[in-house]
Amino acid sequence: MTSGTFPEELIRRIREESDLVGLISQYVSLRKSGQNYVSLCPFHSEKTPSFAVSSTKQIFHCFGCHVGGDALSFLMKMEGQTFPQAVRSLAERLGIKLAPKRAATHDPGLAEEGLMLYKLHQDTVEYYHTTLLSHPQAQQARDYLKHRGIRPEMIEAFRLGFALPSWDALQTTLHQSGWTAEQLFKAGLIIPRDETRAGSAGFYDRFRNRLLFPITDLQGRVCGFGGRALGKEEGPKYLNSPETTIFNKGKQLYALEKARDFVNKTGYLVVVEGYFDAIMAHQAGIKTVVATLGTALTEAHLQLIKRFTQKVKLIFDPDAAGVRATLRAADLIAPSGLAVSVVRLPEGQDPDSFIRVQGVEPFMGLLTRSAKLMDFAMEQCLMDPDAHTIDGKLRIIQALLPAIQKIPHRIERGYYLKKLAEGLQVNEQDLLDEVKAQRTHGQTQKGAAPQPSPMQLPKEEEILLHLLLHHRLSVDQLLEEIQPEDFSDPRSKQLFGALAESAKQSGTIRLQDILHQEAIGSELASLLTSLSLQEPDYEDIHQTMADCLRAAKLKKLRASMKSLERQIRLAEQEGRAKREQDGG
Ligand code: CTP
Ligand code: MN
Repeated sequence: MTSGTFPEELIRRIREESDLVGLISQYVSLRKSGQNYVSLCPFHSEKTPSFAVSSTKQIFHCFGCHVGGDALSFLMKMEGQTFPQAVRSLAERLGIKLAPKRAATHDPGLAEEGLMLYKLHQDTVEYYHTTLLSHPQAQQARDYLKHRGIRPEMIEAFRLGFALPSWDALQTTLHQSGWTAEQLFKAGLIIPRDETRAGSAGFYDRFRNRLLFPITDLQGRVCGFGGRALGKEEGPKYLNSPETTIFNKGKQLYALEKARDFVNKTGYLVVVEGYFDAIMAHQAGIKTVVATLGTALTEAHLQLIKRFTQKVKLIFDPDAAGVRATLRAADLIAPSGLAVSVVRLPEGQDPDSFIRVQGVEPFMGLLTRSAKLMDFAMEQCLMDPDAHTIDGKLRIIQALLPAIQKIPHRIERGYYLKKLAEGLQVNEQDLLDEVKAQRTHGQTQKGAAPQPSPMQLPKEEEILLHLLLHHRLSVDQLLEEIQPEDFSDPRSKQLFGALAESAKQSGTIRLQDILHQEAIGSELASLLTSLSLQEPDYEDIHQTMADCLRAAKLKKLRASMKSLERQIRLAEQEGRAKREQDGG
């Protein structure tokens, strides 16, 4: 990786000064563990945290999937940014002013448009929010919120807004602050008029006479809106921003950016279906509630949730559609390994109305009495009046078996197979045979992808590198005893060489510089971050070093003896051949 057009000094500053823990906290919830911070890995799916971050060394490493690096590599991997884009984002966080980018030096695409759209949404939220709070024509919206029991603090915290019943109020205001129609269109805030009708060129505001719920990403940046109609006549009850470069309904969760801060305390997230449901729960002090944006739960949602917790409670409508949704969710969720439970509300209620009518305590009660998703799905199916007929049984097996098969844990899988067999009063062995038959018909299990195992270095060489990286041993000290060539593994040889070179150049080991050297591929970089994040735990450093050196030298000695023996054998063979030739 080269620094390209950026000065070396800038890159170094960014690597060393970026608040890596703060940066990564925007994506996962880190908790302190020893010298480091740990969390579930955002790059692969796992149940126990193997992702570690060091605030002093400014590097991260996942001991599960073996990715590692510094702030720049994190952004590149997490946000799909290019190196220059990552440099720019981090420079901005550090408050470093960069010269404006020369045109067309690299792909101007996504990141630049994204930045523009965030800025535009920021201005838009301000406008809509102010309108709600103080515009004379927003009285009806203010009354509506009051009537629904939403308190002013919530209007503030969620930056709720109001779009006037007007075709161009937003456009007019934003044009005045310099935003173009093209930009507003890209943000999905305005819609082109029907071009075929003469004289009606131009655009109209998407949101009119609607209460607006700004949707924020995990960095707190607004990226879209949900809008609830206040009048009956105009379009659907809820209207969302369309898909844009920064907004995707299937990938975002409303209020997650707030809920994430509380997840560690309660240990679980609650997923509801509506904006009002989420706000009402937060208002009642249940702050780990998030809402989908009018879509069913997606795989992307699950991945997002997994960055913060392994435990989710879903609140579904208790109607038939809700039950079908539960079954779909079971199929989707089973392979993720998330512990998902389901809460059922009384007929005709949603969290918003339940909390308003019944109160918080009963709602909390429901949350604590939630049933495991698979139990719930099975119970629903077994309630089918046809469950005692053979057709009914087959239908239920067809509905549930695929989800059960996707459960990654063998024991849990076995438990549900047994339960299903018992519930349907069918032979369990027949069910198991059915599972086998379906497996061999090309259905492979899609659980967490197996991780390639890390390539182990010889133990003594690993320890020596470890001691160097944790400054328990200086390069000079080690060089007195052993040379890079004495390492038997080519990777340790190269790493030791790089550490020694860095120490010679700058008086200390500059980990960040080494990580980004061209010659250090991803495997060596991973070894470096891995070793740097493993806490040293040696009783006696000098003894350890002496032992390792002896082991390394012994190995080297054995290797040279072997090679000597080989040479002797070769020489003997040649000699014999020659004698035979001469004799023959
Ligand atoms: N929704 C949507 N489009 C619709 C209706 C609903 O996207 N036409 C989504 C919205 O995200 C909304 C959620 O589904 O917040 C719940 O909507 P609904 O079931 O209609 O909830 P209600 O309780 O009826 O709505 P409200 O509380 O606003 O009266
Ligand atoms: Mn509602």
